[in-house]
Amino acid sequence: MPGRGAGGPVATLQVVDKSTVAEDVVTLTLADPDGRRLPDWTPGAHIDLVLPTGDTRQYSLCGDRFDSRTYRIGVLREPAGRGGSAFVHDSLQPGDTVGVGGPRNNFPLVPSERYLFVAGGIGITPLLPMVTQAAMLGADWRLLYGGRRRASMAFLDELAPHGDRVRVMPQDETGLLDLPAFLGEPEPGTKVYCCGPGPLLDAMGLACVDWPPSALRTERFVAEEQAAPVRTAPFEVQLARTGTTVTVPLGTSVLEAVGSAGVEVLSSCRQGTCGTCETTVLDGVPDHRDSILDDAERAAGDCMFICVSRAASDRLVLDL
Ligand code: FES
Repeated sequence: MPGRGAGGPVATLQVVDKSTVAEDVVTLTLADPDGRRLPDWTPGAHIDLVLPTGDTRQYSLCGDRFDSRTYRIGVLREPAGRGGSAFVHDSLQPGDTVGVGGPRNNFPLVPSERYLFVAGGIGITPLLPMVTQAAMLGADWRLLYGGRRRASMAFLDELAPHGDRVRVMPQDETGLLDLPAFLGEPEPGTKVYCCGPGPLLDAMGLACVDWPPSALRTERFVAEEQAAPVRTAPFEVQLARTGTTVTVPLGTSVLEAVGSAGVEVLSSCRQGTCGTCETTVLDGVPDHRDSILDDAERAAGDCMFICVSRAASDRLVLDL
């Protein structure tokens, strides 16, 4: 799983530009206040923005990955959100500093000769560097980009040079995205990447049922609904490095349980979407409840996101 791992320390970066790029969408360009180089990233990566409240929000990097001095993110104002986008839109200004964790990549672009990209609204942000890379590598690719209306769709100007590889489909002009028509027949070796609102991701899952397993890769910023935990009885978590064993009752996360035993694991979203709390499983069977791993990664059972995932067996041994 390339690019996954611990979240690392939080850096203080400065907002060097803030631009409105569509209705209710601003971009922030962030740089080290002393002009130092920033850690490298790959298409699909995101950073954590640490808010003054101490809460963090994840935003995909959507700038030039070969510009080692700045990061760019796109932020949609979400009136029903938890306040992160309102802070970015209303309070954060050029010259201000902000805490930044990462970058981290749960949505890496795997090598392929052919890609189909589907973006819904602000879901264009992780896909923008992907299409740039696909174009640079000479891959065969197409992008279907839907939004409520044209004025709400960010980065249309940056996509325009790609010509008819990009289909822009504002809902008020063209209706709902016709996914089967865009996808066509399953083709071996084609990778399908989708980012957008939950209903679009669900529709893509249905549209790709006949595609080879793991052809479709999606990224969610809102957790998928999960079934009830596999087990309701408490289970034990043995911490291999510390030699401690903790009991995890229903209603307590593994993250909280190991934290109360004095083992702090870095976390961010606490809803199984960001990947920060990834932990290696040495023994036992996890009950995966995240929105990150695909079926093959779940079946491997060698890592879990302990903010949400639990145990299906009586005991887990974690590399903590
Ligand atoms: S803290 Fe985000 S996946 Fe666990």
